[in-house]
Amino acid sequence: MIRVAAVADMHTGPDSAGTLAPLLTGLADEADVLLLAGDLTRSGKPAEAEILVAELAGAGVPIVAVLGNHDYHTDQTAEVAAIFKDAGIHVLDRSSVVLDLTGQRVAIAGTKGFGGGYGAALADDFGESEMKGWIRHAETEAEALEDVLSALVGDVRIVLLHYSPTVETLDGERLELYPFLGNSMLGEAIDRSGADLVLHGHAHHGSPAGTTPGGVPVRNVAQSVIRRPYVVFTIEREDEASPRRSLRRRRGNDLTDGDASASDRERERGSRRPRWMRRGTRIDDQDPPRRKGRRR
Ligand SMILES: [Fe+2]
Ligand SMILES: [Fe+2]
Repeated sequence: MIRVAAVADMHTGPDSAGTLAPLLTGLADEADVLLLAGDLTRSGKPAEAEILVAELAGAGVPIVAVLGNHDYHTDQTAEVAAIFKDAGIHVLDRSSVVLDLTGQRVAIAGTKGFGGGYGAALADDFGESEMKGWIRHAETEAEALEDVLSALVGDVRIVLLHYSPTVETLDGERLELYPFLGNSMLGEAIDRSGADLVLHGHAHHGSPAGTTPGGVPVRNVAQSVIRRPYVVFTIEREDEASPRRSLRRRRGNDLTDGDASASDRERERGSRRPRWMRRGTRIDDQDPPRRKGRRR
């Protein structure tokens, strides 16, 4: 069993000093690792990164992060990433890390992702050079994620993004914003490569739980969505639990978050996945926030 704490969109700024560290004092008792899904800083300034590093210094668990669009704003990503890396934080950018946690290899593939839209409304590589540049960046991110993920070996495989690979965790956002919140190429890349859990942020007004089209669990951990300093997910491989207990829980609601529709979708779509993609893992959202109602 692996306990994964996660949060995104902290948007750390000068007024954040001293506010986060007190909220993390119990983290090491609750989780084995902390994943940060981008927008770590308010505008990508090294001084903001220094503040966040100081706040995270007492977390007591390994930390893995990807950058978000806010972290790119002042074009100082190299300096910002270096500050995090110097503090021992794994910063993933079209890359991966494998951590040995409680005797299991927890493999994490991470990249920022990008916008572009979803399904039939996905932007085309056509027209103005600016339009082509936009969608080509999204394509490159999705292709890189697939390359990294398809080569990733671990007992548990997690994808860490900033942008969303599915519309399901955007529910609550304005429809007009969807092309700027993620793209379906990310979800397709994940479905082709397989994963146990996908985490993202960026959709501040979205929903906490969803799946890729292929049924891989997706969680939006934007701080305004989880409405707490971090949320903890328990990832348990089915062969760790007794068959009876596993069967009993499968008949109930695996996700214990009052979101039966999301867990039903995960089971239904998971059963349609090819056998090689059925990872036999269960995701429990510990003490999850209540699902928000639709805003429209
Ligand atoms: Fe954000
Ligand atoms: Fe963002």
